[in-house]
Amino acid sequence: MERLTILRPDDWHLHVRDGEALPSVVPFSARRFGRAILMPNLKPPITTVDQALLYRERVLAAVPEGVQFEPLMTLYLTEQTSAAEVERAAVDPRVVAVKLYPAGATTNSEAGVHSLEPVYGVLEAMAEHGLPLLIHGEDTDPASDIFDREERFIEGTLVPLLRRLPTLKVVLEHITTATAVEFVGSTSKRVAATITAHHLLLNRNAIFEGGLRPHAYCLPVLKRERHRRALVEAATSGNPKFFLGTDSAPHPRDAKESACGCAGCFTAHAAIELYAEAFDQAGALDKLEGFASRFGPAFYGLDPNNTRVTLERSEWQVPASYPFGSGEVIPMRAGEVVSWRLTD
Ligand code: DOR
Ligand code: ZN
Repeated sequence: MERLTILRPDDWHLHVRDGEALPSVVPFSARRFGRAILMPNLKPPITTVDQALLYRERVLAAVPEGVQFEPLMTLYLTEQTSAAEVERAAVDPRVVAVKLYPAGATTNSEAGVHSLEPVYGVLEAMAEHGLPLLIHGEDTDPASDIFDREERFIEGTLVPLLRRLPTLKVVLEHITTATAVEFVGSTSKRVAATITAHHLLLNRNAIFEGGLRPHAYCLPVLKRERHRRALVEAATSGNPKFFLGTDSAPHPRDAKESACGCAGCFTAHAAIELYAEAFDQAGALDKLEGFASRFGPAFYGLDPNNTRVTLERSEWQVPASYPFGSGEVIPMRAGEVVSWRLTD
């Protein structure tokens, strides 16, 4: 297949930051996706509907003229979040979910939760109102091996949570292991997972290829090849529990190329093209539309987009960097080739 036309995709997990960074990165996502769920891990985090709606306006202001792009907002769950705030979110179609960051798990997660006990009341309200919980699923015990944190979270936190709240809708975000694939595949329809393009295309060798590669460092960290294969199998299976979420997470170059570099891969500049590569390599381009454009809206109770995008097999070279506010961001494949291109 040399050309592929699919319903316009959506990105169900995206970071666009705030302030001067917004106009640098929002246009990349708006060019490709009809909608995107925006993560609330700003500094300070987005914890109320009012803050989410103000942030939404700032994002919309960064969408280029004439481009249709709908930011879908999330609230950052803290131990202070109230059931009343959840109820406000549940009745506002512009806010679609609440995000759980275990405290200390990742970028700007300090305000997250230390244990689920204090937030069960809020989670019950979410279950009652049908508001999904989006989970960064990593165990935060510092003694936990970094490559095992997703598996330990599933066992130690997710299984008890799902048992205690049998109707709560949950998305296990950016899954990275065969264990997560099996677990999500074996649960009921209310549990789904997003998969990033970088976890489909790279295994953990990418972090150490010829030296330390900070731009391949993200969280959850890349895993072994057998896990990457399990993710590709899930994404290309046609199972609607698995759908697209880029987790494109731009950081300024100097925050990545540092003695203590930030986690995050910037992929928004070529997001759907990178997924097309992964599906093409698996001989499963016919499965891309379901994963990228149909299964996400179905989970969130929304209609798919009614416009289309066309991809063609045609190589292009990714720039060495892109402007990012007053600095620069190094994209995935910087200076290298992507083999699919979006046509106009
Ligand atoms: O790699 C990541 N970057 N993983 C996350 O969970 C957060 C994200 C970010 O915000 O930079
Ligand atoms: Zn993320």
